[in-house]
Amino acid sequence: MVPELQKATVRIRQPERVREIIQALREQGVAKLQVISDFDMTLSRFGCNGRRCPTSHNILDTSRVISEDGKKKLKDLLHYYYPIEIDPNRTLEEKRPLMVEWWTKAHELLVQQKIHKSDIAQIVRESEAMLRDGFKEFFDQLHKNNIPLFIFSAGVGDILEEIIRQANVFYPNVNVVSNYMGFSDEGVLTHFKGPLIHTYNKNNTVLQGTGYFQQLSTRTSIILLGDSMGDLTMADGVPSVENILKIGFLNDKVEERRKKYLDSYDIVLESDETLDVVNGILRYLL
Ligand code: C5P
Ligand code: MG
Repeated sequence: MVPELQKATVRIRQPERVREIIQALREQGVAKLQVISDFDMTLSRFGCNGRRCPTSHNILDTSRVISEDGKKKLKDLLHYYYPIEIDPNRTLEEKRPLMVEWWTKAHELLVQQKIHKSDIAQIVRESEAMLRDGFKEFFDQLHKNNIPLFIFSAGVGDILEEIIRQANVFYPNVNVVSNYMGFSDEGVLTHFKGPLIHTYNKNNTVLQGTGYFQQLSTRTSIILLGDSMGDLTMADGVPSVENILKIGFLNDKVEERRKKYLDSYDIVLESDETLDVVNGILRYLL
């Protein structure tokens, strides 16, 4: 049905169930389909050339507009909070306040740096930002078939929009909800607009008033793409879900986190830097 599911990176706990969901998505047809995706480390790559690829925050944190002192402080935050973010032995309840702390401190540091709105395009151009292999087919397929793509990101909206703009795939069917920067009349970063989105509140609580899912109420077939346990709730605001296929990229601490991912995601992609499986499924559905 989908040859890409035979890739060595694919792990599935219940193959029969996955087959049923894909079949149901196909029967329901393209008009009912929508895709909900995380951005950082899901649409963007986790590793490149043996190194870590940057998240949208990292792109800013390490850019030339940040002072050396600012860079060090932002890096210290990452080294302290990232292991907590991905720790399989802590509950989401334990993690949530700590994530709020991380994002709040990082955003405060960024605001101190007097970043100019006009610098953003150049910062992204000079960065090592990379979308997963196969991104063009992914975005093109969705665009051509008028399938809404909702990017739900705890990263920095201005940066990730610029990444997909520079990749020439920021089509009208793409909608982004993320943390956006607020600028003064002079174009200097003064704040981040609320509500704060972190890894573990990606659910309807931060979408109040957007009306996004309400206006797509006939799109009851969902493909959800994520890389974190926090991404599993991204579709909670969809008024009626008939069929949902959850695909999870397991990038880091693969052994320790495998069981949790297999229990929560229908399809787990281990250390797979491509969108091959997603594209294969889309090709089968469209
Ligand atoms: O879940 P999502 O991919 O949208 O979250 C953004 C990612 O950005 C998190 O996984 C986190 O590791 C990373 N991050 C970062 N620097 C921060 C805050 C978050 O790299 N200051
Ligand atoms: Mg992510």
